[in-house]
Amino acid sequence: MPNHQPNLPENNGIDADALWHDLLEAAEFGATAKGGVCRLTLTPEDRQVRDWFARTCISLGATLSTDGMGNQFARLEGREPGLAPIAIGSHLDSPPSGGKFAGVVGAVAGIAILRALRESGVRTRHPIEIVNWTNEEGARFSPAMLGSGVFSGVFTSAFALSRVDASGTFFEEALATIEAAGSAACGSHELTAYLELDIEQGPVLEAERCAIGIVTGVQGMRWYEVTVSGRETHAGTTPMTMRADALQAAARLMASVQEIALNRAPHAVGTVGRVSLKPNNPNTVPGEVCFSVDLRDPNDAVVLAMENSFRDRAAALAREYGVNIGIREVWDLPATQFDQRVIDAIAHATRSLHLTARELISGAGHDAVYLARVVPSAMIFVPCAGGLSHNEAESATKEDIAAGAAVLMQSLLAIDVRLDPLTA
Ligand code: HGY
Repeated sequence: MPNHQPNLPENNGIDADALWHDLLEAAEFGATAKGGVCRLTLTPEDRQVRDWFARTCISLGATLSTDGMGNQFARLEGREPGLAPIAIGSHLDSPPSGGKFAGVVGAVAGIAILRALRESGVRTRHPIEIVNWTNEEGARFSPAMLGSGVFSGVFTSAFALSRVDASGTFFEEALATIEAAGSAACGSHELTAYLELDIEQGPVLEAERCAIGIVTGVQGMRWYEVTVSGRETHAGTTPMTMRADALQAAARLMASVQEIALNRAPHAVGTVGRVSLKPNNPNTVPGEVCFSVDLRDPNDAVVLAMENSFRDRAAALAREYGVNIGIREVWDLPATQFDQRVIDAIAHATRSLHLTARELISGAGHDAVYLARVVPSAMIFVPCAGGLSHNEAESATKEDIAAGAAVLMQSLLAIDVRLDPLTA
């Protein structure tokens, strides 16, 4: 690996205090009383943080462009404008009761790199783009990662714009309401490579006292929407043997998700995260229950086997309870292997910065999964307290995040020198 050492200070010029200040400033948008954030995509809170992201990047010398999916690109020109940019991406939307670190860490690290390049006067060969992808979490519009998915050709713009949230609002409407859609066609520009930094959102790095996770790939995952349809009847007059109780059938089917995942230990995970029922009335036997299912494993064959077990269980319960059970797959993300050259650049950066590191596969989905389909990509993780994420108590330290940003910067500088042959 050519050791390209521009005149940056030891920590690659990452100003940890400024990075931490940026993170706390972003946390104000959609802040919750328990110290987390509720910043669903394309809501007023998302608009606030998008505007903040744009202002901050522009103040550091970047030009800001937005595409038709609302993806934001903060661009710093390089010495050789004919080269496709190296992108550093993340997202600023959150789950309903999320933490102030997941996703934001990647965005503020990108901002810290803009700041370091500006203050050191270092100018890379490639243009640099810091990206905020729309709807990474998928909490409001399913499936997740719509913005990066359209950019990478996984979804069409029409599909994404047609997605509807629980209130019946279309994605297209929500984009217009916060004036987030830009003029650039989504996916219309090339990239040389893509890097993403985030907290691990899991327990491994902290447990092993590792400063850096060199993320080699992401496990496979599938989402389903399940509808159990029975018959609404009076709770007092309907004999137990004459009921088609949607909730009783659904409760046993939901419990099977945990059993199925535990039977596929140690890596498989299964989650029911969202439930609704009708009519939700104390003296009416529930007629309909809808719930989400999230199945994941590093091995796609295991995810498929879990799905088959779930479908078999649903068929048996439908017969037993006299209900109809519909299972609709809404998201299928096969396991992803990142590009070895980008992984090597990250590994080399951790060594040159004398940081403890280990390779690992991501349990969480990230926009890098879709970028990896169109451009050499890989990720960097830093530890988070107790492995906790998608929780308002989510936390990470300034020092760990700054170390991750330094690895991100060092990897970027290496790729700026080395990965050209890949795209030539
Ligand atoms: O679902 C995920 O893994 C990610 O947090 N969107």
